[in-house]
Amino acid sequence: MSRKRVLFVCLGNICRSPLARALFEQRANERGMSVLFEIDSCGTSGLHAGENADSRTISNARKNGLSFKHKARQLQPTDAHEFDYIIAMDESNINNAITIFQATNPQKEIHLLRKFENNQPVPDPWYGGEEVFEEVFHMIDRNVHMWLDYFKEKYFQPSENITHVHIV
Ligand code: 4NP
Repeated sequence: MSRKRVLFVCLGNICRSPLARALFEQRANERGMSVLFEIDSCGTSGLHAGENADSRTISNARKNGLSFKHKARQLQPTDAHEFDYIIAMDESNINNAITIFQATNPQKEIHLLRKFENNQPVPDPWYGGEEVFEEVFHMIDRNVHMWLDYFKEKYFQPSENITHVHIV
C-alpha cells in the first residue's frame, strides 16, 4: 500500500494548519501509524510564506506538550495532484483552494477537518485571545484522531481474508 499524502490547509499557514500537521504527525506516531503517511501544510495566502508558526500557536502547543518546526508556504496548483487528501480548516479555505486549483484540477475534493465531528469550521484564532488558541488546539486534536480512525478503518485494518487463506 502506498503512503497516503495528506495536506492541511488554512489561510496564513501560521496558526491552524501547521498545528493540524504537527498534531496529526504526533498522534499518528503514538498510534504506530506514522509510516503510513506523508503530510504537509500550507496557506491559501502567501502573506506569511517563509515564516515560522505564530508565536501564540507555538506557546499554546508547548503548554499542551507539543513542539514542532514549521516554515509557511502557499498552496500551489500542483498540490491538487501531489496529495491524496486535502483537508481545510474552514469553507473560505475551500473556496480559495478551488480558485487556486482551477487551472489544473478543478475536480479535486477538499474536506473540512471537522468533517466527522459536525462539519463546522475550525475558528481562525488570529484575532482571538489565549482561550481561542486553547480551544483550537483541542478541537484540532479531537478531529485529527477522527481522521486517523477513518484512515485506519479504510486502509490499515488487517485483512479478514487472511484467516481464510489456505495453502494447497
Ligand atoms: P491561519 O491564521 O489561517 O490559521 O494561519 C491566520 C494567520 C494570519 C492571518 C489570518 C489568519 N492574517 O490575516 O495575516
